[in-house]
Amino acid sequence: MSDLHFETRCVHDGVNKDSTFNSCITPIYPSSTFYWDDLKTHRGFDYTRSGNPTRKALEENLTALEGGLDCRATSTGMSAIVTAMHLFKPGDHIITGHDIYGGTYRLFSDIFTSQGYQFSFVDMGNPQDVRDAVTPQTKGIWIETPSNPLLNLVDIAAMTEIARQHNLVSLADNTFLSPYLQRPFEFGVDVVVHSTTKYLNGHSDVVGGAIITRQQEHAERVSYIVNAMGLGCSPFDAWLVLRGVKTLGPRMEAHQKGAMALARMLDSHPAVNRVYYPGLETHPDHELAKRQQRGFGAMLSFDVKGGHAEAERVMTSLKLFQLAESLGGVESLVEYPETMSHASMTLEARRNAGISERTVRVSVGIEHPEDLVADMRSALDSI
Ligand SMILES: Cc1ncc(COP(=O)(O)O)c(C=O)c1O
Repeated sequence: MSDLHFETRCVHDGVNKDSTFNSCITPIYPSSTFYWDDLKTHRGFDYTRSGNPTRKALEENLTALEGGLDCRATSTGMSAIVTAMHLFKPGDHIITGHDIYGGTYRLFSDIFTSQGYQFSFVDMGNPQDVRDAVTPQTKGIWIETPSNPLLNLVDIAAMTEIARQHNLVSLADNTFLSPYLQRPFEFGVDVVVHSTTKYLNGHSDVVGGAIITRQQEHAERVSYIVNAMGLGCSPFDAWLVLRGVKTLGPRMEAHQKGAMALARMLDSHPAVNRVYYPGLETHPDHELAKRQQRGFGAMLSFDVKGGHAEAERVMTSLKLFQLAESLGGVESLVEYPETMSHASMTLEARRNAGISERTVRVSVGIEHPEDLVADMRSALDSI
């Protein structure tokens, strides 16, 4: 189906798998095991930890949307990242950003560091910092762009060029934009991961992850790890994500429309010190965003004037935006990186990444932009 448009592929790739009844949607196969015809033959699946028809449908869909070779759908975004890290081994050095998602930072700086992996957390907005961090032990570059929560961009092509020069594996967390707005393989990345919990599913009713590869060697290792460590997602969760993906394109358009309207209002509001949204012409990475993304996405952050008390007042005065972690669902959310999404970072690491106690992160849903702007304006007016 490679000649079809992205939106068409969202709806059709990997689905229509029911040869018995020709059902419109992919059935859920909750079966843990599958009967063999004889000692040599089964019908493609033997045990759901190793593979499952519903999960396979999602994996085919995501492979197509990212333009990869293979995919494994995992139980969470974190388990997709755990899987990806098993492309490396203790003693290997991996370069990543100092402003990545707090859970990824914790996984790298605590769990994998204690197993002998080495990490450098650098300002990836500056490719020279990445070049300077390369050592003879360096084996990988972990890219997250735009970064969470401050929406700094990483020049993906510049990173893969460094990876090529030093024979490193490049990996990108594409959660914030989804393949509708950014396809890292087009810039030479080797492995893409997602928290499907976010835009791919889009309805805040599942946690899941995915790891998409484009080289046979990586695909085989990922498949082995997901099976050996038991990281695959349940058939029901796969089915939910597959259902969500069908509307990815129209949802992302609606998300972005609201985000742009909100960013413009925030940018002109006297109670706001700074807005972090790559769609604003004043954002330092606006031109890069235009080059490597097909839109600006719907995550944004802002610093209120004042400190913790003012940030708290805004977040608790909102009526439509609910206070909650996560992102990418149809409903708008706000959260406080200082004590919520990025609490797993040390205070020093947060400050180093530019997160302050004035910072509020917003996941803009698909509600009408005028309602979102009105709600946020009235909360800001209250401080
Ligand atoms: C960019 C990014 N990557 C990975 C994750 C982890 O995903 P999950 O919560 O599905 O494990 C998150 C969660 O917020 C995230 O924001």
